[in-house]
Amino acid sequence: AERSFIMIKPDGVQRNLIGKIVGRFEDRGYKIVAMKMVHATTEHLEKHYADLKGKPFFPGLIKYMASGPVCAFVIQGLDAVKTGRAMLGATNPLASAVGTIRGDYCLVTGRNICHGSDAVESAEHEIALWFPEGVIEYEDTEHAWIYEN
Ligand code: GTP
Ligand code: MG
Repeated sequence: AERSFIMIKPDGVQRNLIGKIVGRFEDRGYKIVAMKMVHATTEHLEKHYADLKGKPFFPGLIKYMASGPVCAFVIQGLDAVKTGRAMLGATNPLASAVGTIRGDYCLVTGRNICHGSDAVESAEHEIALWFPEGVIEYEDTEHAWIYEN
């Protein structure tokens, strides 16, 4: 099954939105196969956002992401990457549809409370970066009620 790396950023953690955000993915039918609180180092975050190095907002982004703990987790299920991104909403919260996480809980791009992998390959890369110990495989008892087969 497809997996995506999702992260509640420091603002989402400080605003006590962990339960609500994780709950949306669980409610949709995704299985949580890894999860932890991490106060990431700037070195680690620079690896995570390596593709954005050189952007004018990069230093601010790293400072924001290192400003407190994040809640890192992995969702597993059908179309996890694309649907995970759709559930987050647009990068700019003001352009995010109401009903998406960003569209419901935040206002500005630089404090957009959550991250989601943008492609299957980046998901694999990000899962390996944040969960070098691997994810947990376990039987999903609701599987037959969420999928046709
Ligand atoms: P992530 O899920 O966090 O990767 O967001 P994204 O994929 O929607 O956007 P992108 O990867 O392009 O940018 C990563 C993060 O950098 C965004 O989520 C924002 O927090 C921040 N960011 C991107 N563009 C800007 C910008 O123009 N200004 C500021 N202040 N922050 C930005
Ligand atoms: Mg991105």
